[in-house]
Amino acid sequence: MVGPLRAVDVIRKKRDGGKLTPEEIAFFVQGAVSGTGWMPYQVSALLMAIYFRGMDLEETACLTQAMAASGQRWDWSDLPGPVVDKHSTGGVGDKTSLILAPLAAACGVYVPMMSGRGLGHTGGTLDKLEAIPGFRVEWEPEQIRSILRDVGLIMMGPTAAMAPADRILYALRDVTATVESIPLITASILSKKIAEGIAALVLDVKCGRGAFMKHRPDAEALALSLQQVGTAAGLRLVTLLTAMDAPLGCCIGNALEVKEAIETLQGRGPEDVTALSVRLAAHMVLLGGLADSLAQAEARVRQALQSGQGLERFRRCVMQQGGDPRVLDRPELLPQAPHVEAWRAPRAGYVAALHADRLGQASMLLGAGRARLEDTVDPAVGIVCRVRPGQKVSPGECLLEVHYRQDQSLKAALPLLEQAVILEDGPPAALPNEPLVLHTWGAGTA
Ligand code: URA
Repeated sequence: MVGPLRAVDVIRKKRDGGKLTPEEIAFFVQGAVSGTGWMPYQVSALLMAIYFRGMDLEETACLTQAMAASGQRWDWSDLPGPVVDKHSTGGVGDKTSLILAPLAAACGVYVPMMSGRGLGHTGGTLDKLEAIPGFRVEWEPEQIRSILRDVGLIMMGPTAAMAPADRILYALRDVTATVESIPLITASILSKKIAEGIAALVLDVKCGRGAFMKHRPDAEALALSLQQVGTAAGLRLVTLLTAMDAPLGCCIGNALEVKEAIETLQGRGPEDVTALSVRLAAHMVLLGGLADSLAQAEARVRQALQSGQGLERFRRCVMQQGGDPRVLDRPELLPQAPHVEAWRAPRAGYVAALHADRLGQASMLLGAGRARLEDTVDPAVGIVCRVRPGQKVSPGECLLEVHYRQDQSLKAALPLLEQAVILEDGPPAALPNEPLVLHTWGAGTA
């Protein structure tokens, strides 16, 4: 292209299937943030062209770096240990961040965990943490530095100065039906993590009914893209593909999930939540260079769990971030819904499936999640699954506990609940979410 770059030429090039140069991608990202040379409708047009034509690895890596460079980048080189984070693409009942961050910190990893809010049927770590009375997720840079140094972890929301290009592009993607694009998702996730200044990252890509990616080939393509682009950006990276057909654990809803996370840190959590939290934390420990093998890293994390060191880290985190630490010993201090309704088995049978998507949607209708970004959430409401897949049930047995505030929201959720628990006459041949870890890419998988 001769002469100054023009948005229309970049859009045309991608529309016709061309490969964008690093200069064109930088021009696009800078223009999207500053408005120079790019109107929002032109930014949207290029997003749609990328949605249809895709981007190769090199273009995606360039886009990721340009988005990361659009704002502040943290530098943690003054910390005396490895700085590692974890990111999940989002699931139903996934409270592992609340468990693995203190466990990894107890093993010597520094975890500056920047999380998001729930949207649609999937929950968000920030909403869960804010169910703890007083817990704050927004901090000034100097406070972030001080909490991380002192506690070994901080759980926070994205700061305005970090990767502003992602905020602008995501808002446009949300209203132009261009969210579901692997290069755009890859750049969105990784640009924020690169700006976080971490040395290593563990990614948990969810796959199944309750996940963003419902089908394994799509989830694998996203996992590979994240793994390759992250590695090209200089991150040490492990990517796990994990099952999300049934909810993780028993509780769905913010305060209910905090309670289950605390129980897990007390060593009495559900098996799947414990196993996945330990596995992800172990990868963080291994990537941080604090163990020689995954088995050794897992042993260290289990020791932190069994000794209560993980729980104590979480207590310090809650205290430093303004939360009421008494909730760790007295969960009744967490917000509680005024009503609890039992959803009972209409007949005898075996639980063949617990549909994560329907339970997530039902929980959202109860008020635990948000349909649009600007909605507020009710920390107290949600669902507790009283049965697990494979379990035999009798007629009238409680399958689900519904914690609700308004009759209206219960009424809206009921049709989904009716379809969420699938009963069969005999024991199911295969159980959802088994195996939980479907595949692992990256170093330290031995
Ligand atoms: N999560 C993100 O952070 N970005 C996306 O584009 C999709 C999921």
